[in-house]
Amino acid sequence: MPLVPREKIDDVRERTNIVDIVKRHVELKRAGTGSWKGLCPFHSEKTPSFHVHEPRQFFHCFGCGEKGDVISFLVKIEQRPFMDVLTDLAGLAGVDLDVRPLTPAERRARQEQESERDRMFRTMELAAAFFEEQYAGPAGAAARSYVEGRGIGPEVRQRFRVGYAPARWDALSSHLSAHKIPHSVMEQLGLVGVNDRGMYDFFRDRVMLPVLDRQRRVVGFGGRLLDPDAKDRKYVNSPESPLFHKKEQLYGLHAAMDAIRKTGRAVVVEGNFDVLALHQAGVEEAVAPMGTALTVEQITGIGKLARSVTVVFDGDTAGQRAAQKAVPLFVEADVDGRVARLPAGVDPDDFVRDTAGGGADAFRRLVEGARPMLDQFIQDSAEEASIPGKMAALERVTELLVRVRNTTKRELYAGQLAGVLGMTTQQVTRALREAAARAQRPAAPAAQASASAGPTPARAKFPPEELHLLVLLARYPELISTPEAVRAAELLVHPALRRLHRAATTALGEEGRLDVAAWLDAAAPEVAPTVSAALMDGSLADVADPPGLLRKLSARLQLQRLEAEMAMNERQSRQAHVQGDLEALRALSLRGIELRKTKEGLQAALQRP
Ligand code: UTP
Ligand code: MN
Repeated sequence: MPLVPREKIDDVRERTNIVDIVKRHVELKRAGTGSWKGLCPFHSEKTPSFHVHEPRQFFHCFGCGEKGDVISFLVKIEQRPFMDVLTDLAGLAGVDLDVRPLTPAERRARQEQESERDRMFRTMELAAAFFEEQYAGPAGAAARSYVEGRGIGPEVRQRFRVGYAPARWDALSSHLSAHKIPHSVMEQLGLVGVNDRGMYDFFRDRVMLPVLDRQRRVVGFGGRLLDPDAKDRKYVNSPESPLFHKKEQLYGLHAAMDAIRKTGRAVVVEGNFDVLALHQAGVEEAVAPMGTALTVEQITGIGKLARSVTVVFDGDTAGQRAAQKAVPLFVEADVDGRVARLPAGVDPDDFVRDTAGGGADAFRRLVEGARPMLDQFIQDSAEEASIPGKMAALERVTELLVRVRNTTKRELYAGQLAGVLGMTTQQVTRALREAAARAQRPAAPAAQASASAGPTPARAKFPPEELHLLVLLARYPELISTPEAVRAAELLVHPALRRLHRAATTALGEEGRLDVAAWLDAAAPEVAPTVSAALMDGSLADVADPPGLLRKLSARLQLQRLEAEMAMNERQSRQAHVQGDLEALRALSLRGIELRKTKEGLQAALQRP
C-alpha cells in the first residue's frame, strides 16, 4: 500500500460529508440537529437504529454495533480496500493524494525493498503504458483505425487504456528488460512465453485491452487480433497469475464502478467490445467476464456494488442456455439477477450502434424492463404442457427455490410456480420439502469430512445473553415464532448468531420442526462448536420456565441496547452543550428522560421473579 501521510487522510475526511456518502446506501431522515437516522445497512431491521452524526462525522448502529467514519463506512458496505475508498473520496474532495516525488537515491532504495507483488503490479503497469505508447505511435496506425472504426472515441479509449502490441517477437520483453524486470516475472505474469528457442512476446499484433482491478491497477490483458486473415484465435487473454484471477475479475469494472454505485445497477454483457461500445454510448454500468461463463465469485463481487445485476444475452438458443446457467449462481450468491434478451444474432455492440434499431435509449429500456431471473425461469416452464414436462419443471424450479434465502421471496415464487404449472400451493410446497431433503443429503458427508480433516476451528466468543437466547430457542423451538422471541431475536447483535437464528426460522417454516443436528451442520465452523457445547450444558439448555427465561433474556438484551443509546445520547448532549445548540439539547434531554424511564421499567421487570 502506498504510504499516504496522516494529514492527507484527515484532509479527505474533512472535505467529505459523511451524510452525503451514507445517503448513497441508506435513506436518512433528520433526527435532531446534526443527527440523522435510517435503517441499518449492516443488519436487517424494521425500526431505524442506524445513526449518523454530522458534526462529528461518524455513524453508529445501536442494533448491530457497527460504527466508524466515512472511510470505514465505505470499506464495510462496498467491501473495498481502504486505499481504493480513500482514492475515490480524495478524487471527489479534490485532495491530491500524490506524495512528493522521490529523489533518485530514494527511488533506488524503494525499488530494492519493493515486494514481489508490487513489482508485479509495476510490471503490468509498464506493459500497459508500453502498449498505449505503441498505439499512439507509428506502429499503431492500423490499431487506431480499427478501434476508431468500431466507434470508440478518445475518452473511452483512454479510460480503458486501450493499447497495441506490435507484431514483433521481442517488443515488450526488451522494453521490460530495459526496465530491469527479470524474465521470471514477465513469464509469471504471462507476458512472455518460453520455448526451446528462448523467450517471445505472448501478445503480438493485437489490440490490447487491459483488465484493471477496483484500484485501477492493471492485473491482466485481453488481446484482440487485428489482422482478420490471421489464423490465430480472435482473443487471447493473460493466463492465471498471482495478480490475475479470471474467476473474480470482470472486464471494465474499474470504469463501471462509479456508475454501478450511482444507479444501483450493473449490466453484464458477453464481449469486451460490447463493454467499450456501451460505455461509448453512455451505458457506463457495463462489464463482461472474459470469455468464460459467469462465476459465483464475479456475481458476488458485483452484487456488493449493485442492487440488481442485469445480464444481457443474445436472443439465440446459446444465449438462452447461458442465461439459464446463470440463474442458480445468482440464487447462490443471493444477488438480484435479471435477464434482458436481445434479438437473436445481435450483440450489444451492434444494438447500441445501430441507431435505426434503437441505439442507446432502446438498450436502456431493454435493461430497465429486464425481468428478475427467477421470474423468467418460472415463466419459461409455462411452455410445458405435458404432465411429465410439468413434473420436470416442478423439480427443476423447486431445486432452485429451496436455495432462495429470503422466505417471503421464496413463498411468492412458489405461488407463482403453482399458478404457471396449474398446480395447488400444497403440491408445490410438498415438492419444495422434497427438494430441500434432496439438497441436504449429499451435503452432510462432505461437511463431516471437512470437519474431521481440517484443524479444529477456534471457538467463537459470543455475548452471553445472545448465545443463551439462541440455545433456549434451539431447545424449545416452539417458542421461535412467538412475538416475544421474534422481538428478542431482532435484538441479536452478533452476525453469526443472527444468521443461525434465521436458519432456524427458515427450517421451522419449511419442515415444521428444527433438526438441531442438521441446523448445526449448516452453521459456520467457528460457530457450531460453541453453540453445540452450550446446548449440552444442561444449566443453559434445560430450564423450568422457558417462556419466563425468554422474557428475561429479551429484557436484558433490550437493556443493553438502551444503554448504548443512552451513552450516545449523553455524548450528543455534551456536544450540543458545547455548541450552544439549545434546540438539540432540549430534544436530546427529552429523549434521555424517555430512555431512563424505559430502563427503569425494564429493570423492574427483571427484578420480578
Ligand atoms: P465474442 O466473439 O462474442 O467477442 O466473444 P466480441 O467482443 O463480441 O468480439 P468482437 O471483437 O466484437 O468480434 C466474447 C468474449 O469471449 C472472449 C473475449 O473476452 C470476448 O470478448 N473470447 C472470445 C476469448 O477469450 N477467446 C476467443 O477466441 C473469443
Ligand atoms: Mn462483438
